[in-house]
Amino acid sequence: MTTGTADIGLIGLGTMGAALSANIAEKGFRIAVWNRSPEVTRDFVANAGPLAGRIVPTETLAGLVAAIKPPRAVILLVPAGPIVDQQIALLRPLMAADDLIIDAGNADFHDTDRRTVEAAAQGPHFMGIGVSGGEEGARHGPSIMAGGTDGDWARVAPVLTAVAARYDGTPCAVHMGPGGAGHFVKAVHNGIEYADMQMIAEIYGVLRDGMGQGAAQIAPLFRHWNEGALHSYLIEITAEVAATIDPETGLPLLDVIRDTAGQKGTGRWTAIEAQHLGVAVPAIEAAVAARNLSAALADRQAGEALYGPAPQLLGAGAPTPDVLEQALIAGKILCYAQGFDMLARARQQFSWPLPLPDIARVWRAGCIIRSAMLNDMATALAEDPARNLMLAPHFADHLMRAVPCLRQVVALAALNGLPVPALSAGLAWFDQMRTARSTANMIQGQRDFFGAHGFERVDGTTGQHGPWVRD
Ligand code: 6PG
Repeated sequence: MTTGTADIGLIGLGTMGAALSANIAEKGFRIAVWNRSPEVTRDFVANAGPLAGRIVPTETLAGLVAAIKPPRAVILLVPAGPIVDQQIALLRPLMAADDLIIDAGNADFHDTDRRTVEAAAQGPHFMGIGVSGGEEGARHGPSIMAGGTDGDWARVAPVLTAVAARYDGTPCAVHMGPGGAGHFVKAVHNGIEYADMQMIAEIYGVLRDGMGQGAAQIAPLFRHWNEGALHSYLIEITAEVAATIDPETGLPLLDVIRDTAGQKGTGRWTAIEAQHLGVAVPAIEAAVAARNLSAALADRQAGEALYGPAPQLLGAGAPTPDVLEQALIAGKILCYAQGFDMLARARQQFSWPLPLPDIARVWRAGCIIRSAMLNDMATALAEDPARNLMLAPHFADHLMRAVPCLRQVVALAALNGLPVPALSAGLAWFDQMRTARSTANMIQGQRDFFGAHGFERVDGTTGQHGPWVRD
């Protein structure tokens, strides 16, 4: 095999791959690139401007591998799923046993675990990394959640930390643990992303359908909220989305977008995995369900024709902007608290390091859920990683103030038929979490009555059955 000069290679010059390659080259590394269609590679280099000198275009996979200095590292940025396996199968015979393939797509972490095992048996090394931040992040600094062995992380950390986003100078790139740990953390990130987006959309719905506000009134409200406790990327872009005008019709662009939301699956995986782990993430589940229901357009139209639209919340019955802001603050804290709870459970279950304060830190910049709250979350998790965020004094202070507003919004919405599934799921979770004696004694009684499942007494005696009165 010829010895190349590139520090790293990259396969897949789609939006994310092209942006990440340019970022890597900009940070002073030589990068060899390959794409299935050679024209894409040629165009990429032709448009790379001054970075072209550090980009090595290649037209065959063998050429790509040969262009990289051994031991080689190749980043895959191809669609998640079988294409990743096909790409690995094509690379395997071309690479040496100590070379490394890095899957930087949105892989299901179970696939990453499987590929890690296969790589251990067949070589080359393999690691999966979660990369967040969309095209802009990939180009100028994503948040990177790395899986894989300590040794493989150490090999590629210089490149990955150089290209990552920075928060107060600290790179947002952290090693989460072996195998699928990085992709797992990315999936939870996306679960929180779904819940956060859904809660924002619900408040938008209260403003639009409950209070008759147009996008032009809604945009400045979100812009204002972005200056306070809600300061975050998602609130910022919500204001911009609401402010944009459709050049074709002159209407707000938001008003000409069909109300059915797609998903590539990461939020769904998070909800499914939470069930496997036996951890409650109802705000994330509600967000996934809401995307699924958004697709049922014909049924929703028939439903509204039959039952009528939700009435407007009039006068004093309408929540004030401050109440809506506080409701969203509570909702946001609760959806992060659920996500971190899931990470804490996975940490125990999979025996992965999953450094919770570092996860909060790695999400402070570059990624889609970056938000001002994450710095305080990192502090709270560093104080006590085992404590749920809603019990940390800083967030308890926020919640004491904000939950009554969330309650008001959810109650008004329920009374009037406005759908707020993620906000109400967040509130229901909070109320369960603040109820010392749950109603599961009744569930246990019912289970023992019909199935002799047994129950534990409050004094700790286990294995009791009945005796039940049966008429
Ligand atoms: C990110 C995003 C990004 C993307 C996903 C989710 O962190 O940069 O999560 O990975 O948005 O593809 O998109 P879906 O909404 O299609 O599941």
